[in-house]
Amino acid sequence: MKKKIIIGNWKNYLNYQESIHLSKKISKINISNNVRVMVSPNHLYLNEINQIFNETNIEVIAQNVTSSESKSDTGGITVSNLKNLNIKRSIVAHSESRIREKNPQKVLEEIIPIAYQFVLCFEEIDQIPFNLLTNKFEIILAYEPVWAIGTGETASIDHINEIHKKVKLKLEDFSLEIPILYGGSVNPSNSRDILESDYVDGVLVGGASTKIDHFEGILNSI
Ligand code: PGA
Repeated sequence: MKKKIIIGNWKNYLNYQESIHLSKKISKINISNNVRVMVSPNHLYLNEINQIFNETNIEVIAQNVTSSESKSDTGGITVSNLKNLNIKRSIVAHSESRIREKNPQKVLEEIIPIAYQFVLCFEEIDQIPFNLLTNKFEIILAYEPVWAIGTGETASIDHINEIHKKVKLKLEDFSLEIPILYGGSVNPSNSRDILESDYVDGVLVGGASTKIDHFEGILNSI
């Protein structure tokens, strides 16, 4: 069986001390062979947190990227700076970035040619630029219905399967092999059912990933 991908997106829930504390706790968890784990802390703490996970199989990823090379991009996050900190992947176009930025998907035109790995969030299938995607490096998609994010209203398995199936068929049309995660109020009580679906390659967890017992519960649910 392919490993399921579990990403903890800490958003801006944790301050510096809390982020370091949580990182140290997570780095001590015995992670099963069935899962691949990534955590996405606040950008300000990426470097230090990356060092904490250095000796583990857990990958530290960025929450957003706004351009590829170093250039005038005040307040932005560039691939060159992320690579400089040995951060090999970023979330792109998360719903919260979509509110803040006019067209967060646009950065894909810059980062795909330089093969920078990313997790592209989408709510509508037409937000996925299938023609730009490639099998040449690892790309991950995450279906995140906005009404389910941070609301406690998880999408039903039938709904998740229906959307993921549609996206998988489309990916097949483009001969793309790209995993699709689900995100939106995933918690330790619903993660098993979601992760057990053949249409779901993993989960992108927000709030529940910032609490060690909840995150551990999700990691142990498959
Ligand atoms: P949530 O967030 O798990 O808190 O709903 C998911 C996400 O936005 O990535």
